[in-house]
Amino acid sequence: MATGIIGVGHYVPERVLTNFDLEEIVDTNDEWIRTRTGIETRHIADDGEDTSDMAYQAAVSALADADLEAKDLDLILVATITPDQPFPSVSCQIQDRLGASQAATMDISAACAGFMYGVITAKQFIEGGLYHNVLVIGAEKLSKITDWTDRNTCVLFGDGAGAAVVSSVSDDRGILSFELGADGSGGQALYQEDDKIRMNGREVFKFAVRQMPESSVKVVEKAGLQKEDVDYLIPHQANIRIMEAARNRLGISEDKMACSIKKYGNTSAASIPIALSEEVKAGKIKDGDHIVLVGFGGGLTWGAMAIRWGK
Ligand code: COA
Repeated sequence: MATGIIGVGHYVPERVLTNFDLEEIVDTNDEWIRTRTGIETRHIADDGEDTSDMAYQAAVSALADADLEAKDLDLILVATITPDQPFPSVSCQIQDRLGASQAATMDISAACAGFMYGVITAKQFIEGGLYHNVLVIGAEKLSKITDWTDRNTCVLFGDGAGAAVVSSVSDDRGILSFELGADGSGGQALYQEDDKIRMNGREVFKFAVRQMPESSVKVVEKAGLQKEDVDYLIPHQANIRIMEAARNRLGISEDKMACSIKKYGNTSAASIPIALSEEVKAGKIKDGDHIVLVGFGGGLTWGAMAIRWGK
């Protein structure tokens, strides 16, 4: 048996903040944001809605999609850099709300690459024979650590959650290859200080336009595939120009790349599972398709995987 994704779900809060709304808050404009980042709107959670609330909604949806019940879960992993509080973990909160009493829990801190770290961690537990069903969630309320006076960062981020149920699948489906990495020496490019996100945009950009294409190609090669075999690319939704760099290196057409950045901005650990869930539910990813997921984030961290989709 191999390990794959058997169900997906996502959730974004209702409230939409447009580029025009941001023009009222900081010295920016819609044209700058659209052309430099690809973002037009982002969804922002209300005061009463925290990371765990969004994570819960995505989890319920993914469990239904996998046709599983909460009691079937052996492990819950939540990738987040914006937990409701330092502890208890978001994964413990989700375990309680779902009633997943058999599940162990753990939060993962790998910023925007967190979901990739989560899925690969799940794969190890499953293939080690310890667990059958692992719920992996990426959930963020970045709006609570956004500096709404800093135009360099506040235009980029949004809130939301995505989830996947990772389980055994048949031998000819599932995760074919992966790569995880980190470069702690780049920590000062993107970090949190005094409860706010701080970023050297140019440094992060330089790192990301190198790393995303490199990791994408690496997992395709490790899987024994050719670039032409890739049916769909799900990159971390940080900046359309960074996403395009990965797409161009793989040589795939525009319609084969998930692009939800326009609507949601950068939702950190939630961005890849939200995009994946949307594309699966829209029927864009079909049984037997080869898909590449790739992400990078603060740390610096990165991760990629090639999957042959299906159960
Ligand atoms: N509105 C208008 N002008 C803005 C602005 C905004 N929201 N944000 C920055 N600017 C200005 C800058 O101050 C700079 O002005 P200056 O030249 O007078 O100093 C100018 O725009 C150009 O800045 P620059 O950094 O060269 O722009 P860029 O084309 O590199 O785009 C980012 C900036 C942030 C969009 C880009 O660097 C980026 O996407 N980096 C990666 C960020 C990221 O992905 N972070 C999350 C990682 S998970």
